[in-house]
Amino acid sequence: MPHSVNTLPRLIAHRGLSAHAPENTLAAVRAAHEAGINWVELDVQLLGDGTPVIWHDATVQRCSDQRGRLADLDLPGARKLDAGRWFSDTFRGEPMPTLRDMLALIEELNMGLNLELKVNPGRSSAALVDGVVPTLLDALPTERLLLSSFNDAALARARAVAPAERLAIGVLFEGIDRDWQVRCETVNASSVIADWTRLNQRSAQQVCERGYQLVCYTANDPAAFAHQWEWGVESVISDDPASFIGYLPSA
Ligand code: G3P
Ligand code: MG
Repeated sequence: MPHSVNTLPRLIAHRGLSAHAPENTLAAVRAAHEAGINWVELDVQLLGDGTPVIWHDATVQRCSDQRGRLADLDLPGARKLDAGRWFSDTFRGEPMPTLRDMLALIEELNMGLNLELKVNPGRSSAALVDGVVPTLLDALPTERLLLSSFNDAALARARAVAPAERLAIGVLFEGIDRDWQVRCETVNASSVIADWTRLNQRSAQQVCERGYQLVCYTANDPAAFAHQWEWGVESVISDDPASFIGYLPSA
């Protein structure tokens, strides 16, 4: 049976409070905190010079005022980019956060973090884990941390660096297939993080019966999510998690 060493909340803000602030920024984490949401999901990758930054895409054009690949940027280059104005003028000048800057804010606000190791095509999972996990373990306590990825090699390397008593791991799934438990056992995971649109009652109950915390991403319709709570879902990752507050199960 997996053993949970963290304390997951019902609601986790996806990429920060990304419905109301530019995703994966310090502003989005502050906005989550102000909305009463104490955990955030954020994506981490490396710049070309090896600096870990909070960023989702392989490229910068969708969420900044610049173009090009993240792998072609170094830290001075990344510092010049505006990661807020694309969302709205209110957030003009918002920087691309380094992992260190983000961890300092999360610690200051006493928040929890689900950090997703984002291994985009052509990038090294080993370099990412080596650049991220020791820093993460230095910054946050076990109960406020969940490390996740779709990439099994990254999770295996993270587990080799940090034992299960120190670091909770969540395996990300699109659909929960027949191999789900093998993937989880290989990295001694405690959470299954599933695409809520592809989850069914049978797999949800199986995951819960076998002692895993079941987390769903990325749900933004609280009324449509009612069944999933009944199936045993522990937490939901949402762009607008505060909208779920009136819909939560009582237990
Ligand atoms: O971790 C859940 C979710 O963030 C996975 O998808 O593309 O939003 O990182 P994505
Ligand atoms: Mg993510």
